[in-house]
Amino acid sequence: MTVTTAGPDPVPDRAAGEPAVVVESVSRRFVRRRGPFRPARVVDALDGVSLTVPRGARFGIVGESGSGKTTLMKIIAGLDAPTSGRVTVAGTDVTGRSGRQLDDLRRRLQVVFQDPMGSLDPRMRIGQIVAEPLQAQGRPGVREAVDRALRQVGLDPAIAGRYPHQFSGGQRQRISIARAVAPDPEILIADEAVSALDVTVRATILELLETIAAERSLTLIFVSHDLSVIRRVCDRVAVLRAGHLVEAGPTEQVWSHPQDAYTRGLLAAVPTLDRALAAARQRAGGAGGTGVAGVAGGTAPGRAGVAAGEPAGAPARQRAGGDPGAGSGS
Ligand SMILES: Nc1ncnc2c1ncn2[C@@H]1O[C@H](COP(=O)(O)OP(=O)(O)OP(=O)(O)O)[C@@H](O)[C@H]1O
Ligand SMILES: [Mg+2]
Repeated sequence: MTVTTAGPDPVPDRAAGEPAVVVESVSRRFVRRRGPFRPARVVDALDGVSLTVPRGARFGIVGESGSGKTTLMKIIAGLDAPTSGRVTVAGTDVTGRSGRQLDDLRRRLQVVFQDPMGSLDPRMRIGQIVAEPLQAQGRPGVREAVDRALRQVGLDPAIAGRYPHQFSGGQRQRISIARAVAPDPEILIADEAVSALDVTVRATILELLETIAAERSLTLIFVSHDLSVIRRVCDRVAVLRAGHLVEAGPTEQVWSHPQDAYTRGLLAAVPTLDRALAAARQRAGGAGGTGVAGVAGGTAPGRAGVAAGEPAGAPARQRAGGDPGAGSGS
């Protein structure tokens, strides 16, 4: 894959066939002390997890709440260290690194979390929020990169002077995505990035993530407890249960022939995106076409004032087609 690094200190390109992420026998034990007279509580959040994320993949991680998904993502992103095991990102061992050693990883990998309000500093303007990781990396051309990122997520760069509370949940998640993609990472981790959103907004944000992953040739690691969302976005999936990897493979294979009873349970239990979208369409009076964009277009609220305003032919809109959610109320 082509690595576009705009910074003054470009990361050397690596062998093209190298996997994006290799996780080898990773375990993470949390020991919670509960006072002097009570025994400490031990949680094995991850227990011997191994998986390989190929470059350019859209890799899903699915599992019920508490199965260890976020713990694994934090370890891959260098935000937490495993108790044992090893993680390699683009050929570099990142386990046990700190400070400057992680700068290289931060250039290559960015994370979008579930709660856009929690991850966006309410006192900072949108422009500053999106610019922050670029400035931290000493990148030149920050203003242009911020404008480009905002346009790519369907927002008008003119919103740069506003604050997070002035936006809806979907728009805030667009801002989080702009912040994550502005430094041009190779790998984007989305941890339950759409779970807090209304179902129709969720569909437009999923579409946006897919479009951006394709346009920027990103490796996307997409975490969700909902296998139907994973199926929509990901070509491969790994299933976590109580810190163990129970199965992994091409999404369609896991979807149609789940090997493990737990995976079958996940399939049976989760509300599927398709079903939820159909219900939303029905509530909207049967309006909206078959495509996701149609649904979003029929229901997107609060669009005034944040119209995209990007020039005709801007990449994100090409694939999103007439998605009025882009740059609007989602
Ligand atoms: N900092 C921590 N200290 C103690 N225990 C923790 C810590 N972080 C996670 N855990 C525990 O590790 C287990 C896995 O948590 P994790 O957040 O990785 O699950 P998850 O799959 O992301 O769940 P969810 O779907 O709810 O986000 C849980 O039992 C959790 O309570
Ligand atoms: Mg989590």
